[in-house]
Amino acid sequence: ELFLRPDLVACTFSGSVAISVAVSAPTRFLVLNALDLSVNRTSIRFQALEPTEVVFFKDDGVLVLGFAKQLPLGEGLLKMDFNGILNDQMRGFYRSKYQYKGKERNMAVTQFESVDARRCFPCWDEPAFKAKFKLTLEVPSELVALSNMPVGNATFAGPIKTVRYLESPPMSTYLVAIVVGLFEYVEGMTTKGTRVRVYTQIGKSNQGKFALDVGVKSLNLYKDYFDTPFPLPKLDMVAIPDFAAGAMENYGLVTYREVALLFDDKSSSASSRQSVAITVAHELAHQWFGNLVTMEWWTHLWLNEGFATWVSHLAVDSFFPQWNIWTQFLDSTTTALRLDSLEASHPIEVEIHHASEVDQIFDAISYDKGASVIRMLQSYLGAERFQKAMASYMKKYAFSNAKTEDLWAVLEKETGEPVKDLMTTWTKQKGYPVINAKIKGDDIEIEQAQFLLDGSSGSGMWIVPITSGCGAYDTQKKFLLKLKRDKMVIGSQCGDRKKGGNFWTKLNINGTGFYRVKYDDELAAALQNALETKKLSLMDKIGTVDDLYALSIARQQTFASLLRLLYGYRGEADYSVLSHINTVTTSIAKVSADATPALAGDIKQLLIKILLSPAEKLGWDPKKGESHLDVMLRPLLLTALVQLGHGKTINEGVRRFNIFTRDRGTSLLPPDTRKAAYLAVMQNVSSSNRSGYDALRKIYKESAEGEERLQVLGILSSCRDKGIVLESLNLIFTSEVRNQDAYILLRGIQPEAREISWNWLKENWELISKTFAGSLITDFVETIVPLFTSNEKAAEISKFFATRTKPGFERTLKQSLENVRISARWAEGIRSEPGLAQTVRELLAKP
Ligand code: BES
Ligand code: ZN
Repeated sequence: ELFLRPDLVACTFSGSVAISVAVSAPTRFLVLNALDLSVNRTSIRFQALEPTEVVFFKDDGVLVLGFAKQLPLGEGLLKMDFNGILNDQMRGFYRSKYQYKGKERNMAVTQFESVDARRCFPCWDEPAFKAKFKLTLEVPSELVALSNMPVGNATFAGPIKTVRYLESPPMSTYLVAIVVGLFEYVEGMTTKGTRVRVYTQIGKSNQGKFALDVGVKSLNLYKDYFDTPFPLPKLDMVAIPDFAAGAMENYGLVTYREVALLFDDKSSSASSRQSVAITVAHELAHQWFGNLVTMEWWTHLWLNEGFATWVSHLAVDSFFPQWNIWTQFLDSTTTALRLDSLEASHPIEVEIHHASEVDQIFDAISYDKGASVIRMLQSYLGAERFQKAMASYMKKYAFSNAKTEDLWAVLEKETGEPVKDLMTTWTKQKGYPVINAKIKGDDIEIEQAQFLLDGSSGSGMWIVPITSGCGAYDTQKKFLLKLKRDKMVIGSQCGDRKKGGNFWTKLNINGTGFYRVKYDDELAAALQNALETKKLSLMDKIGTVDDLYALSIARQQTFASLLRLLYGYRGEADYSVLSHINTVTTSIAKVSADATPALAGDIKQLLIKILLSPAEKLGWDPKKGESHLDVMLRPLLLTALVQLGHGKTINEGVRRFNIFTRDRGTSLLPPDTRKAAYLAVMQNVSSSNRSGYDALRKIYKESAEGEERLQVLGILSSCRDKGIVLESLNLIFTSEVRNQDAYILLRGIQPEAREISWNWLKENWELISKTFAGSLITDFVETIVPLFTSNEKAAEISKFFATRTKPGFERTLKQSLENVRISARWAEGIRSEPGLAQTVRELLAKP
């Protein structure tokens, strides 16, 4: 039983807990978690006993109660009173600020994952200690007060009300939640009668309708998928103005940052519609995977996050089949492949010894590699068998906890396949293999070796589900590679090798496997031919370019061969494929500016040539009835062309922007293309010619909070002029930018401004590390450090941080520095590559 009384004006709270504890072995101590709380010592009782020692271990967030005599065996009640501060750090019990009728107000919000429930009340703050929670809040009568469970009863005493909530089912502490503030809501109902609400600030509830619709559909779908009902009587989703993560799956009370939940028909973009859908589907998946069945320990965090990421795509694909979301999912896979080819990566199952280590594993390995290996397993076992096994896993461990191996055991029992042996190679060691494929007569010889971007080769070995397509997609082959080397027999169905032309084979069909493929010259040429003659699926187009891109960075393939392959993608019209092409072209533009300055201009022209024709087809103006994917593709291409310095696109962006500044309602600049125009304006801005910049700052000030504002924020630092970049970066320390949004400004920084940004980071490091807690501080390292491409700089940065690291961002720093060294090595290779200039000229000259 937990009682809390927040004071929203003084930003403090007081409270009391009564915890039922079973003493199962003789002891004189109770050891639990509490942090930054002042516990009233005289209030502490276990049954009638008072502790004789009360000791806090601040670094560990631990409270030790010592009693004079051994505690009586059996169940007893532990009680205490405490006080705390509603902090500004967006963790524990904190305050968020909002405007109401022109006045600033505070709301009280909780964010407990991973280890911050202990900042709100003394408890056993580990996922395996599930308990039933019965909450009572004492708050101002006019405010909305929400918690995990519905209100049981409320009593009013003038300006103050006491709200008692129903008792929850057994749940982990990190999922407890409270929100107190002014809100309005929209409401819906699932087919089984669960009440669903979306709470927003006053006046914004219309913007909650899209999320409500996705939320109701998600609950319906997951109930069927897991064959298990949603166990709570209600589900609330709330938009919070200050929020560290994107969203948090608290049981029955899911919290979101505003842009992750709200969608406005007039001012939101198609990509924000999609990310709202994915986020809602992700958090609601956790209501089963995470909340009902919870990881035993943080080592198994990936079970939560990897599975929610994977199944959110399954849900969104069923609601919006036209979005092609599984093709877009390859973004997750390639992001994970990228991170996991660093020496400083980590296994999916990572040992956690201390609370301070938990936050940093919420990364692309847990989320994206986790989701990718689940997709690999599902495609190996088959969708139906997989779903049946997931449903029985859910039932077996409902209201309890599970480890990775428990999941494998259920899958193995249901399917009879060697799931544990197979999957252990993927979850217990870091990295992944590159499969070398060589054609020898009628066979393809394959060999696995760990792939690392620094060009070295690790010693890892995996059990690899190999798939191959051969001449056509209806002649796929599957087999499990268990050894270092093996071979596959190919028949005539791959096409005729002798005659050339129609022969091709591709491994890892549709990128379901978490590995890369390196082909010998003959297979590579056949694959490029298949690409250019439009034989490959969208997913395979993505896999083909991403593999060669990575192999080129690792210097296992030439830069020229990457350019030649890329050239084969000109005329491509698909959003997902072009989104990957854009990642590659951006990276190429950056590295070539450092590696071959003399050739960089020509390389940019080549990249423009590849992207121009789809961009011209789409133009700036939306067309009636065009697809969601085309709506997202337009800004992607326009932005890419602006970044590459394409004059015509920049001029058109500026022209439209000038009209927009006079008429905000103009149809020439709808929400989807605004950012591209803003970016175009920033290309011409400098300290002596700052009218465009001032106009953008004005738009920022005048825009409503939410996506509209963030679109401007994202480009303010995208400029070559040092003074302007500094001015923008310094906004981070003002009240104009919420701490939660600083990273959006940081992401806009261009390589040309890296030196000035790094100096700024150094000069302000003390302030930054004081102001930004937890994951927010890693953003500063992650966005600025990898802009560099020299070993000297890596050494300098490493030296600066030698005396300044914290457990929270050590790994991120290591990874960022490794990326710098990898870029340096890549640039070195490009510099000394013979015949590169000729290749570039040849491709540029092609009609
Ligand atoms: N459980 C996380 C929220 C979280 C993240 C808590 C990091 C503590 C530390 C939540 O389910 C989540 O994954 N949110 C994502 C959004 C999702 C769509 C990938 C996020 O916040 O980015
Ligand atoms: Zn999650």
